[in-house]
Formats: sequence, structure tokens, C-alpha cells
Amino acid sequence: MKLWGGRFEKGPSDLLRQFNDSFSFDHQLLSEDIDGSVAWAYAIADAGVLTRDEARSIVTALSRIQPPVKFNEHEDVHSYVESKLREAIGPLAGKLHTGRSRNDQVATDLKLWLKRACDEATSNIRALALILVKRAEAEAATPMPGYTHSKQAEPITFGHWCLAYVEMLQRDIERFAAAQARGDECPLGAGALAGAPLPIDRMKLAQSLGFARPSANSLDTVSDRDFAVDYLFAASLLLTHLSRLAEDLIFFTSDEAGYAELPDALATGSSRMPQKKNPDVLELVRGHAGRAIGELTGLLAVMKGLPLAYDKDLQLDKEPLFRMRVTLGAALPALTALIEGIELNRERMRAAAAGPMLMATAVADAMAARGLPFREAHEVVGRELASIDELAREYGVTLDGILASKKAFGGTAPERVTAAARAARARLTSSTSDHRQPTTAGQTR
Ligand code: ARG
Repeated sequence: MKLWGGRFEKGPSDLLRQFNDSFSFDHQLLSEDIDGSVAWAYAIADAGVLTRDEARSIVTALSRIQPPVKFNEHEDVHSYVESKLREAIGPLAGKLHTGRSRNDQVATDLKLWLKRACDEATSNIRALALILVKRAEAEAATPMPGYTHSKQAEPITFGHWCLAYVEMLQRDIERFAAAQARGDECPLGAGALAGAPLPIDRMKLAQSLGFARPSANSLDTVSDRDFAVDYLFAASLLLTHLSRLAEDLIFFTSDEAGYAELPDALATGSSRMPQKKNPDVLELVRGHAGRAIGELTGLLAVMKGLPLAYDKDLQLDKEPLFRMRVTLGAALPALTALIEGIELNRERMRAAAAGPMLMATAVADAMAARGLPFREAHEVVGRELASIDELAREYGVTLDGILASKKAFGGTAPERVTAAARAARARLTSSTSDHRQPTTAGQTR
């Protein structure tokens, strides 16, 4: 069944159908399309287009529509739903499209989809952040070397490392919440581009679908995909963070560092080298970050030249969104399990953190504490690095002393890490944990 054709003498060619049809992927919007159609049936009944009985038969038939088994018999999800409706109730089905266009319909479907996708991302991110918090609580006093420029710099704690990523993830949660809030406007009622030619109560319609409000301008409504770009951006930055975490862990679990070992269940072997235990999960996360950035820039490039209002280019918005949801839905739980199961080699971490070169800054600090200007102390320590061990002893510099000294807000001191972990847990588990919450709530400065 086609939704158009009256003005054509010939039907569409196979070539057109292969290139133009979107049902092979937009069938994923079936439940959203049905929800939107149910809401539209009630809205046009309110506007006097359908009797109450007609609306009821349409809604009942809509709710009985089953997922497709074949994907090549319909142009898109909208024509699928309409043809199933016609099979069930006959010509009455044809009244449902009164005042509606696939343009406002598809935008509605996609925004409903987006809300669910954002909720799903947020809850998966929260689960990962909570595992990192749990590890931070247990490892608040576990020393390891901290790095800048990939060179050993100063000692830190593993808990502090965990909480660095918790901060990033907290911001990611806020970004998905903001994307969701900005996209929380109902497109239905915008028509093809100029608005609906019926007295539709769009506020009521928006609320019936769970939207905060109706969209304000019909031209913008049918051509706006900011919400899709926002989602891809939030996902790209999230994956950028996860990629950095993956990169850190690839190094921590390397033969050279040996600070940690991957859980067997989340590592892979080599078909050739029997000794290998490879970090494929982490490498895939790193790779997916690159692809996500491509999806984001790809959609921006699709959008940039589009004249108002709807253009078919917009059909290409869906696959990147669907792919991204699948990627996040697999990557986040896998990383969560990996973080939960990763085993630390605490002796090796402590030994590395206690290396004499990691004392140098603290020795200079100790000299400065005795009155030598820090610049001069820096110079002296730099010249005497060969005897840094003795200097450390002379100035009473120890690994645990260094860690304990970093107790100002935001620092790596074990007691500070413990407090920060507690604050992060509170933030992540409070029901109001959204973008309105200041990210340092609960911590004393
Ligand atoms: N499959 C289309 C899409 O994804 C639905 C909207 C079609 N609208 C139109 N005017 N051809 O964008």
C-alpha cells in the first residue's frame, strides 16, 4: 500500500523503492509511531474529525498491530502502520491521516525514541559511575604513579583516578539530560510544514504523549534535528571519555606497567600466541569513540545545506542514532563489568609510586616549607636527582606523607578521596540527580 500515487500514471520502479524506502531501518520506530497515531486519533476526535466510536476503533486496531516479518513490502513505518490499520478496520483507517503529515509524524516518532534512548544512556552511565565510585571507596588509599605527558609525575591513589572518570560521567549524564530537555517538544500538529488545518489542542496533545510542550514553529518543527545532533554529541563526548579510560587501562594492564589484570571473562586470547591476554573490549571502546565522532560530523554535514522545511535528506538521520544506541548499550555494560572485575596488583602499584623520582616535587616542597623560595628548591633538587633518596630521607618525605598532604578540596589525599566518593555516590543516587545539581554538592571545601 502506498500513501501517495493519485497523480502518478505509473507505480514506483524497483530502483526508486530500493533507494527511497526506509522501512528496513525505521521499523524500529513502530511503537513510537503507534503511540503518536493513538494520540493523533484522540486529538482529531476532539477537533470533530472522528466520532468517539471511530476514534475508539482506530485506537484498538492500532494497539493490536504486530511487528513486521518482512521489511521489503512497505515504504516506511508510517505506511506499514496505515496499511495494517486498513487491513483491520477498512476505509475508516484513511481518516487518521487528516491534518497530519509524515513530516510531523516522523519528527514525533524520533523525539519519543530519543527520550527513551537518553534515559537508557543515563542509567547505563550511572551504573558505570557507581562501580567506579565503589572501587574508589575501596581503593581510596591505594597508591599508584600519576602521569603527565605519559611520564611518572607525582603519586596519586587509584581511588582518585576512578573519581576523575566519575566527574566526566556526571557531566555526560547532565548532557544527555539537557539533550532530552531541549528535545522535549511535540512536533505533531505542525502538519507538512505550515501547521494543522484543524482546531487541535496542541498543548493537550503534547501532554498526552509525555512531552513538556508543543513545538512553536511548524517550519522549524519538521526540519529540526537538533535533538538528534545533541544526542550524537552527548554520545561522542561520552565515548571520548570512555576511550581515555580505556587507554589508561590498556596501559595499566600492559606487561610493562602491570598494575592491573583484566578479568578473564572480559579479555580475549590470540589464535597464534598462547600467552596472550588481550584488551579487546577496551580497544573496541576506543575505536567506537572514533566512529561516534564520524556519526556526529556526518549528521551535521547532512543538515548544513538544507533549505526549509522538510527535505528527504532528513531520512538519513535515523541509522546513526540507532547505531549509537546499540553501541552505547553494549559498550557501557561491558566496561562496567570490566571495571568491577579488574584486579589490582597493589604491591606493584605501590612500588612504582614509591620510586625516588616521584619524590622530587615533594622534596622541593619540603625545602620550600623550610623557607627556601620554591624556584631555588626546584633548581637544587633538579641538580641533585642522583641522591634524591637521601634528600627524601633528610626531609622526611614518604609516599604516604605525600598522599596525605594533598588534602585540599579536589586533591588525592585518601581522606579526601573517601569524602569525594561519598559525595559522588550521593549525587548519583539522589532522585534529583540531574543537570540542575551542582557537581560538587555535598563536599566541603
Ligand atoms: N521516511 C521518511 C523519513 O524518515 C518519513 C517522512 C517522509 N516525508 C516525506 N515528505 N516524504 O524522513
